[in-house]
Amino acid sequence: MRQGRPEVTSLPTLRERPLDPPDELARLRDREPIARMAYPDGHLGWLVTSHAAARAVLADRRFSSRQDLMRASLPHLVAQEPRTPADPGNFIRLDPPDHTRYRQLLAGQFTMRRMRDLRPRVEHIVEGLLDEMERGPAEVDLVRCFALPVASMVICELLGAPYSELDEFQHHTAVLLTLSSTIEQIEESAISVDEFVRRLVRRKRQQPTEDLLGRLTTEHDLTDDELANIAFLLLAAGHETTANMLSLGTYTLLCHPEQLERLRAEPALIDDAVEELLRYLTIFHIGPSRTALADVELDGHLIKAGDTVTLSLSAADRDPDRFVDPDRFDVTRAAGGHLAFGHGVHQCLGQQLARMQMRVGYAALFRRFPTLRLAVDPAEVPMRADMTIYGLRGLPVSW
Ligand code: HEM
Repeated sequence: MRQGRPEVTSLPTLRERPLDPPDELARLRDREPIARMAYPDGHLGWLVTSHAAARAVLADRRFSSRQDLMRASLPHLVAQEPRTPADPGNFIRLDPPDHTRYRQLLAGQFTMRRMRDLRPRVEHIVEGLLDEMERGPAEVDLVRCFALPVASMVICELLGAPYSELDEFQHHTAVLLTLSSTIEQIEESAISVDEFVRRLVRRKRQQPTEDLLGRLTTEHDLTDDELANIAFLLLAAGHETTANMLSLGTYTLLCHPEQLERLRAEPALIDDAVEELLRYLTIFHIGPSRTALADVELDGHLIKAGDTVTLSLSAADRDPDRFVDPDRFDVTRAAGGHLAFGHGVHQCLGQQLARMQMRVGYAALFRRFPTLRLAVDPAEVPMRADMTIYGLRGLPVSW
């Protein structure tokens, strides 16, 4: 078994090409898929880049998501001291059985039936935004006019939150996910989002409504703290992610006109196209991370209890041992089995909602604007690599 010196001094994030993960990750995956990595606070942990090993870590209960065990918290990759337990309800940072209790409560709100019921609302939101685009000048920033509002209005719809507070809330979630945000900025934004969700919970207590948060309030014995933190988690996890898939996915299709043609010729391919976009783009490109609870042997490496393990899902989803010709974007590929939504007990709770928004969103966009094209050179589209979620700062399009 090898222990050795760090093979990587920090997580590679610099991309040579906007739609491909950094070349350094591919080199590592070929050479040392479970590599020793130094974290900015000086401790040595691990970076996993192969599909098989990343999936194995995510499936293994000996790798913990607990906040109070984390030595390196993402996105900042530095230890937060003192290490505190997750706030009640913030179940992404809990392990079973604490995690299981919340997850089960929430799973009941994300059933196929609930998602089916939500679909007409999603269609209405999408069509309404496209109507507005049609009425204005034939050149817009698709992030601002479409991708961000679709994702945030759908989350508001799900939770039963007013659209009127969206702008403020969007600003704060962006701060929380930006690597270069200062600790002060993060604290300020966390407080603002916290106040927003607490106001929401108070309103639901006073006047219960038929939405996720309303139902959680009346059907379950949860404290205000728990409800507020659950709402915070759903807002933070569900809105930047989907917005970036909508905009980056559109950019990807526009940069691969033959694939877009294929999809137009056969609209039934939309489900496969969405799955392939999820795999190809794997926008959760920094982390997730886990902490080993025990000494674990993984492919000849001894991962010691307490070690931090960071997974590169984007490298894993381009692993040639798992996907044939993985760097080719192909809407007809059977891309199932990708790790864009993670794997194991923490696998994305909102994945069906995200898929539905993408299916409805791309299909309606290209139907309503058949001549949609980039308004600038593809190389001039501003990418956003400095956040845990990869994406676009803007997407100038015309038709
Ligand atoms: C967890 C990705 C959309 C809610 C995760 C994880 C990933 C992910 C990779 C696993 C994190 C880990 O293992 O530590 C994505 C992507 C999305 C998306 C790529 C969009 C395309 C959504 C939406 C919602 C949501 C729309 C909710 C409305 C959650 C929650 C968790 C989670 C609550 C934590 C689950 C748990 O800990 O049990 N997501 N997500 N996500 N996601 Fe998503």
